[in-house]
Amino acid sequence: NQSQESPEKKAAGIYAASLVQDGDRVGLGTGSTVAYTIRELGRRVREENLSIVGVVTSFQSEAIAIEAGVPLTTLAQTPRLTIAIDGADQFDQNLIAIKGGGAAHTREKIVSMSADRFVIVSDPKKRSDVLSVPVPVEVMPFGKELAVRQLKELGANPVLRAAAKKDGPVITDNGNFVLDCDFGSIPNPKELAAKISQIPGVVEHGIFMNADEVVIGKTDGSIEILK
Ligand code: A5P
Repeated sequence: NQSQESPEKKAAGIYAASLVQDGDRVGLGTGSTVAYTIRELGRRVREENLSIVGVVTSFQSEAIAIEAGVPLTTLAQTPRLTIAIDGADQFDQNLIAIKGGGAAHTREKIVSMSADRFVIVSDPKKRSDVLSVPVPVEVMPFGKELAVRQLKELGANPVLRAAAKKDGPVITDNGNFVLDCDFGSIPNPKELAAKISQIPGVVEHGIFMNADEVVIGKTDGSIEILK
């Protein structure tokens, strides 16, 4: 939530914007950390004449990018991106991340996998030896019951994500539901990811294995890079 300034998120987000170069085609993730990146890119476009195009991952990042003045394109027009930058909900030493706290992980995965380089921006609290936050699973409404049953068999107790200001479930930008699946500690995220992907009607899960680096912001404004 951008209304609460976070020096850690700001340090990571702004550093990541400095990785973007003239001519880049940039995947723009979703969330409060990458919002700093998007705004900083807007500043560089205005003040440094930086020439870039962005592809957004949500209505939220689209609104921020338009306000910041970052020129936008689509994957249909620009299928190959040079860099993608996004937040995460948790990550481990192997750069495996859990995303989807904002229900945007399906588009985030498509956009990040369309990029040559994928940079995650984060604060230190999200670093964990073993991944353990609930895994968001986007599921087609028609397949919810089967998905719930099979996710239970994999050890989770799936919870249909509810909307904050609406009676009923969150509907993703793609018109689907999100099941938040608490598996406890996840010793083998790669294996779990493969099993979840096999469930019919599952559109995408929030386990990301394609990050090239994680930029971790610190309160003093410095950063650490995990590669
Ligand atoms: C969106 O669905 C998520 O994957 C976000 O990227 C993630 O929740 C990070 O958000 P913050 O930067 O706001 O913590």
